[in-house]
Amino acid sequence: MDLLLLSGRAHPHLASRVAAALGCEPGVCRIQDFPDEEIQVSLDAEAAGRDVYLIQPLAPPAAGFLLESLLVADACRRRDAARITAVIPYLGYARQDRRVRGQEPVGARVVADMLAARFDRVLALDLHNPSIEGFFTIPLRHITAVPLLAAAARAAGLDDHVVVAPDLGAAKLAREYAALLDLPVAFIHKERLGARNVRVTGITGQVAGRRPLLVDDMISTGGTLASAVRALLEAGARPPVTLAASHGLFVEPAAANLGALPLDRVLVTDSLRAAGAGGLPLEIVEIGGLLAEAIQALR
Ligand code: R5P
Repeated sequence: MDLLLLSGRAHPHLASRVAAALGCEPGVCRIQDFPDEEIQVSLDAEAAGRDVYLIQPLAPPAAGFLLESLLVADACRRRDAARITAVIPYLGYARQDRRVRGQEPVGARVVADMLAARFDRVLALDLHNPSIEGFFTIPLRHITAVPLLAAAARAAGLDDHVVVAPDLGAAKLAREYAALLDLPVAFIHKERLGARNVRVTGITGQVAGRRPLLVDDMISTGGTLASAVRALLEAGARPPVTLAASHGLFVEPAAANLGALPLDRVLVTDSLRAAGAGGLPLEIVEIGGLLAEAIQALR
């Protein structure tokens, strides 16, 4: 089946890098906002009979980019595309994967149902919770950038480091990094007080005298990692601290939350455009090749 790679407006540079790794050009798909903010999509590329891959992270504003993805998929389906795969380097709404008080929706399930209504398959990178795969009624291939991030962390030397999970949700992830890097691991106990406020209630593991490599699936406001860095320094960990996360959202006030801390490196992938990370010692680990390999494996 002939390949057609498309991009929405969330991250066209990433789509170009994937296309370059696959040795093709992204197909032209014109997308514009009407004055009333409705999104209008028009395919110039021919989708009929082709194996379509739409590269679009559900980055902020996730609702808009989700709808945009659905509209592109609908245009492809109505043009008789043979198969349509959503390549989602960052799945927005993934943190809404359960009801906490019983009065909320399961947002990740709602998003999964919407994607399944228009796409045949999903290729996702480093989901907030791997069990989200179970929300999808279409096949989902889950890949990870953790080995690439770990290799980038290792490149600067990691003597006397300890891998730290900033909350218990990141415990499995921290163990993965620790195994890849042959380092000890520690866990922070975090309590979330609100969308922008968290509090550290304890640390399990030896951190005194060691340099922390704090790992998480995403950096959003930076509140989780900022609280973790402060707690680690109070517990006797040695600065500077290295941060590693698959997804760098860097929404307000991430630069302010993280900017004043003793950080030597902030490693994130280019699953998103890291627009709000100004002033941070950012190192971007490119995932274009990884996505291209995954697409090849799916064909
Ligand atoms: C929480 O479960 C996630 O894994 C992240 O730790 C969290 O969402 C990061 O958000 P923020 O940077 O706003 O603290």
